[in-house]
Amino acid sequence: MTAQPGASAPVPDRAASGAAKLVVASLIGALVALTLGIYGHLHHPTGIAINIAGFSSPGSVKSWLATGATAFALVQVGSALVMYGKVPRITAPSWIGGLHRWSGRIAFLLAVPVAVHCLYALGFQGYSTRVLIHSLLGCAFFGAFTVKMLILPQRQLPGWMLPAFGALVFTALTGVWLSSAYWFFSTFGIKR
Ligand code: HEM
Repeated sequence: MTAQPGASAPVPDRAASGAAKLVVASLIGALVALTLGIYGHLHHPTGIAINIAGFSSPGSVKSWLATGATAFALVQVGSALVMYGKVPRITAPSWIGGLHRWSGRIAFLLAVPVAVHCLYALGFQGYSTRVLIHSLLGCAFFGAFTVKMLILPQRQLPGWMLPAFGALVFTALTGVWLSSAYWFFSTFGIKR
């Protein structure tokens, strides 16, 4: 069928297209989380230990890196609250967007090598509730992060969606930290 001259082109329904993009992003995020979990479960843990001079064990290196990632993630949350005008008496300075982006990039870069070691050397484990929660949240963190990155450029989505996924990513990372680095430091002491 050909369009009649002068007839207006069909206007795509913004809400429906936004919802479709959210569904696609969520499916990809779920696929990422599942792939990591399945890989960690099927791959035989190598137990490989990479140590860094100055640190007492690989566990301590990982715990400090995870703590760094969580600290930068806290900066992300703080800068997001300022950007959204949620902090009374503070007007967002011009550099707040840069701080938000860079703290997020650094947090992610610190988390990746830790997770690679977890997956490759230790695998997806469930020999205690803590370890099972840690393994599940570790995979969920990367899934939620993927969704957040995919919906970032989507302007059709409701404004609350990006902060909601940001909060989800932060919650997953905090859970990962509590079930690993916090446990490590409270069991073996805070040491390098
Ligand atoms: C990707 C999915 C992940 C899986 C399957 C996974 C799995 C594991 C397992 C099985 C352990 C040993 C737990 C124990 O016996 O105490 C562990 C430890 C640890 N994980 Fe993960 N993890 C993942 C992601 C992450 C992420 C994203 C971080 C931090 C950013 C992290 C940080 C740590 C730390 C600090 C330890 C304690 C040090 C150690 O025992 O090596 N993990 N992980």
